[in-house]
Amino acid sequence: MSDRVFIAGTGTDVGKTVVTAGILRYLRQREVDAVVMKPVQTGADTAQQPWRAPDLEAHWRAAAFDPQDEPYSRFCPYLYAPACSPHLAARLAGDAIDPKVIHQNARALLETHEYLIVEGAGGIYVPLTDRYTNLDLMKEMACPIILVAHVALGTINYTLLSLESMNHAGLKVAGIILSTPEPLSESARFIAEDNPAAIEAFTEVPIFGIVPWLEDITHAEAPGWDAFEEAIDWELLLTQLGLWHD
Ligand SMILES: Nc1ncnc2c1ncn2[C@@H]1O[C@H](COP(=O)(O)OP(=O)(O)O)[C@@H](O)[C@H]1O
Ligand SMILES: [Mg+2]
Repeated sequence: MSDRVFIAGTGTDVGKTVVTAGILRYLRQREVDAVVMKPVQTGADTAQQPWRAPDLEAHWRAAAFDPQDEPYSRFCPYLYAPACSPHLAARLAGDAIDPKVIHQNARALLETHEYLIVEGAGGIYVPLTDRYTNLDLMKEMACPIILVAHVALGTINYTLLSLESMNHAGLKVAGIILSTPEPLSESARFIAEDNPAAIEAFTEVPIFGIVPWLEDITHAEAPGWDAFEEAIDWELLLTQLGLWHD
């Protein structure tokens, strides 16, 4: 069994943070000492000192988890203000992202915690340096991957392209989660309803769940998290990650 999972996305704003938060919350509520790493966060919250990573804050809020006694940089080694591609944010900061640092921090987290959930930045081919993309990071992490996509026009294409690129790189995608980042309009409903079957027709990779639009996910007890849990086939997800126990 792998001690980690990588949450990849078909792009940005597709629901990776919500899915990551929901999985962290689920595992921690069941006594699994899981933590999340956001190796690179752009669009930092600079209103706070030190700067904060909005994705990590969302994960921790959902799971009512705050590892204050551990260095923040371990969870998010690269934090940049501009909301742009990591390679560009690093360059603008006069910095360079070093994948070795990401791996060192991942190892350090796993010395004191049981399980690691890694949320990628953006889509599969997003560059972290001029020569190194999320795909390279996923290859080096050598762990199962969950692909997050959003139910909307275009998702069949984005999902199949993402699966193809990972398959080509020899990566194992454990499953797909579809999310609904905005309330579905009546006129878009027929597209959203067809997305899962259309994707399943082209791939053997299972869909773990279709997460509806969650009205309130602002804190750990918010009702949206119950709806999230209901939307996921946890037995299938945990089995695919090697975490299932009867
Ligand atoms: N199922 C959902 N219900 C409600 N809001 C969602 C849902 N999925 C995503 N969102 C919202 O959509 C926005 C983008 O989602 P996020 O998880 O941050 O995407 P990503 O991490 O892929 O960039 C966020 O404001 C998030 O709260
Ligand atoms: Mg995110």
